[in-house]
Amino acid sequence: AGDEALRLLRHAVAGLDVGVLVNNAGLAKPCAVYLHEADVEAWVRMIRVNLWALTEVTAAVLPGMLERGRGAIVNIGSGTTLTIPSFPLFSIYAASKRYVAQLSRSLHVEYRARGIDVQCQVPLFVETNMTLGATASRKRRSFLSRLIMPTSDEYARAAVCWIGHGPLCMPNLGHRLEWCICHVVPDWMLDELCLRLNLWHRVRFQRLRTMRASRPNVINNGCMPCKQV
Ligand SMILES: NC(=O)c1ccc[n+]([C@@H]2O[C@H](COP(=O)([O-])OP(=O)(O)OC[C@H]3O[C@@H](n4cnc5c(N)ncnc54)[C@H](OP(=O)(O)O)[C@@H]3O)[C@@H](O)[C@H]2O)c1
Repeated sequence: AGDEALRLLRHAVAGLDVGVLVNNAGLAKPCAVYLHEADVEAWVRMIRVNLWALTEVTAAVLPGMLERGRGAIVNIGSGTTLTIPSFPLFSIYAASKRYVAQLSRSLHVEYRARGIDVQCQVPLFVETNMTLGATASRKRRSFLSRLIMPTSDEYARAAVCWIGHGPLCMPNLGHRLEWCICHVVPDWMLDELCLRLNLWHRVRFQRLRTMRASRPNVINNGCMPCKQV
């Protein structure tokens, strides 16, 4: 954070020939909380990574790309901005991803004539640390559940094929199917379903925190309550 970090970043990028930038780093913590319960430090950190860092890194690589007249910038947003009207209890996360989509779209228009492709990819659930424990282990999951929640490798393979193909995309087939289904469900129903789902996550998350306080060795790197617990 701050001017010094930006100066160091620009200095580091100045000598590099950056062809493709993927702004993937992101945080979803604090997760499954009402806004008034959220830890301020955690959501400031989230905004720093999801909004600030993405914007700064993008601004830092653009001069080199403009000079060379080519480049691609891929910003990882979230399917929540496209498929559902709200994402209660993850309100700051969801809002930060709307920023990513809006920024990407405007940059796409600004730079497309100068040889730079700016794209926002909007995945739904992908099996990563962020979603650790949100579902049953992969082996025990059905074909459908594996289709809608790809591994990070499966997602990445689909994602690479989409680079350069439009300002906004949802690379994974399973995610696109979910998007179609959400399209025909009324907004009020999606609001209600998301609230219920995330209230369930909130209970699990609170249970985890209580357990962590009593057993500090419990492992959980991700945002969602870990299965082992
Ligand atoms: N998983 C999903 O279902 C899902 C759905 C929609 C969108 N997304 C988006 O996909 C992107 C990747 O998330 P993920 O699911 O792979 O989550 P993840 O497993 O928690 O990984 C997050 C990544 O962000 C990096 N990161 C976090 N804070 C950082 C910081 N301050 N500086 C540098 N790097 C930092 C982490 O680096 P370290 O490992 O070094 O900490 C890690 O590589 C995020 O933008 C997320 O919002 C994920």
